[in-house]
Amino acid sequence: MSSLTVTPVAGRIGAEITGVRLGGDLPADVVAEIRRALLTHKVVFFRGQGHLDERGQVAFAELLGEPTTAHPTVPSLGGNAHILDLDYRDGQKVDRWHTDVTFVDRPPAASVLRALTVPEAGGDTLWANTAAAYAHLPTELRDLADRLRAVHTNQFDYARISGSDNPERARAHAAVFASTVFETEHPVVRVHPETGERSILLGDFARRISGLPSSVSDSVIRLFQDAVTQVENTVRWRWAAGDVAVWDNRATQHRVVHDFGDRPRRLHRVTIAGSVPVGTDG
Ligand code: SIN
Repeated sequence: MSSLTVTPVAGRIGAEITGVRLGGDLPADVVAEIRRALLTHKVVFFRGQGHLDERGQVAFAELLGEPTTAHPTVPSLGGNAHILDLDYRDGQKVDRWHTDVTFVDRPPAASVLRALTVPEAGGDTLWANTAAAYAHLPTELRDLADRLRAVHTNQFDYARISGSDNPERARAHAAVFASTVFETEHPVVRVHPETGERSILLGDFARRISGLPSSVSDSVIRLFQDAVTQVENTVRWRWAAGDVAVWDNRATQHRVVHDFGDRPRRLHRVTIAGSVPVGTDG
């Protein structure tokens, strides 16, 4: 019998899990409970995991699935192929709502994010529950979304949207990010392979709705994105160094709150391999 406790931190998404020291050696019943909490709450948070290093983070991630290489274009942290080094002093500033890496055919199923250095105030992360967003749409809009598909790509004006704190670094990061261009099409409504829930699959890499003129496409994307990011569908996490967040990338979007200027903020992310998103027509 494990001593885990799972405490929701917002009404529709997010729970804090206590009573566990994360690592690669967790018993099967504990892993099963964490998985259950993840499917229910979409993002789960663990405080006080400062003992974890890169290997420990990857070993824990391996209990949840198969870690991917760190990122399709951004080099991994030297020495560990699975760790994406999110060091915001490098001009990295994806402060827009997104689901991780949706520009590939099989976006990650989950992500494990570990905080190394965080500002004293600011630099929170927000997550949104894309299944709740779908469930709360009026029936007419659900029916429309069910029929749509969207094109996702990593090629867009990343330097423009990354703000002007340090345009040089932002441009350098943008060049790496789009060094190989990926483009793929996904259903706008994804049926979750484990829960069967329907969720909205859009976010910042979704550039257009297939078959619609661009002005209409922009409006349709905005309509569904506004539904996803409605505050009732969100949770906000105030990081401390040593915290770990794990999210179901098949049922969430997230974004950093970039209100910390030049103060250091560094996290390491490991993503777990996912499957081709399946729409409502199978
Ligand atoms: C991410 O976009 O995966 C990282 C979010 C963050 O840095 O808070």
